[in-house]
Amino acid sequence: MKTLEIRGTTGDSFIHVGEILQNLESYIPSENVVLITDKHVKQLYEKIFPPYPAITIGIGEKIKNLDTVRDIYEKLVAMGADRTTFLVGIGGGIVCDIAGFVASTYMRGLSFGFVSSTLLSQVDASVGGKNGVNFKSYKNMIGVFNQPEFVICDLNLLDTLPEKEVLCGLSEIVKHAVIGDKHLFEYIEAHYHEALALDRDVIEKLVYDSIIIKSTNVNKDELEKGERRKLNFGHTFGHAFEKITGIPHGEAVSAGMVVASKLSVKKSGLSKNDAKRIETLLQKIGLPVRIEVEENLVLDALKKDKKRKGGCIYFVLLKKIGNAFVDQIPINELKILANDI
Ligand SMILES: NC(=O)c1ccc[n+]([C@@H]2O[C@H](COP(=O)([O-])OP(=O)(O)OC[C@H]3O[C@@H](n4cnc5c(N)ncnc54)[C@H](O)[C@@H]3O)[C@@H](O)[C@H]2O)c1
Repeated sequence: MKTLEIRGTTGDSFIHVGEILQNLESYIPSENVVLITDKHVKQLYEKIFPPYPAITIGIGEKIKNLDTVRDIYEKLVAMGADRTTFLVGIGGGIVCDIAGFVASTYMRGLSFGFVSSTLLSQVDASVGGKNGVNFKSYKNMIGVFNQPEFVICDLNLLDTLPEKEVLCGLSEIVKHAVIGDKHLFEYIEAHYHEALALDRDVIEKLVYDSIIIKSTNVNKDELEKGERRKLNFGHTFGHAFEKITGIPHGEAVSAGMVVASKLSVKKSGLSKNDAKRIETLLQKIGLPVRIEVEENLVLDALKKDKKRKGGCIYFVLLKKIGNAFVDQIPINELKILANDI
């Protein structure tokens, strides 16, 4: 097991890569603990949960909303949960985002931790202290920054993950490599087959290296005023594709990274060869690199992007693989550039 630390304004968070769910009890109080999980994870792993009451939520982005949060508050009240209750989210990004938000708001805040059970949540969603839910058609519109006390990234849990979910996690891992570590990118180019087969050593390296990049960014800029914005590489068009088509986040981000790479060739001197390497790697992994959508709908989605400031969007561009920066680009220019690629 390897441990990484995030030093947040709301407290420190310890990310344990290679720890196992069976050891959860050594991280939590001996009483007054409530688990939050989803019905798939419960079905698969309830037998190795520690013996505490569990609240089970549904599946999918549609349930990541304030109605689910209210249901959980009601169950916590019924259970007599108080300020001393410790909450543990056991699941993927949706469980962690919701459990973290509930823990941060119920009685003005409870202590909490996560057992992260998808590749995407291990490398991204459970790390960094962003907790929240969707509101109307806006993704992650309501939320807080608040660090979990711990995150357990149990690699054994990935064995039951559907292939589509593995691909979504790999998309975010490629993103981390592209923005911050050219050696990691080369490693993925050489080992994507083993990654797809969930080879333990390869996955452990990918998860750990990915969290190093994410935690380094978060440690410099927890509240996303500068450096942390780099983690949004591929997400401007990615979120637009996700919103318009309903495809999974990781797939949408993959196609968004290809658009952002091509824009980087035009605007920031990324070589055509590097842009091609990014596209080829995503394609070999089995991720989409192009999404057919109506131009007006993309423009509409860009205008509603949370990263928008006035008529501009904070857009992440590349100088090279492993070297990203944030620029403010007028939305109209973005539209013209995107049309042209
Ligand atoms: N907070 C952040 O910083 C952050 C960052 C990135 C993404 N996110 C959010 O994360 C969410 C996506 O997370 P996700 O991809 O983990 O999706 P998810 O939580 O919906 O999990 C995907 C599916 O896998 C199932 N599952 C979970 N663990 C499993 C296991 N071990 N074996 C088999 N099935 C399992 C789930 O039940 C679900 O059906 C999105 O809502 C996104 O907005 C948050």
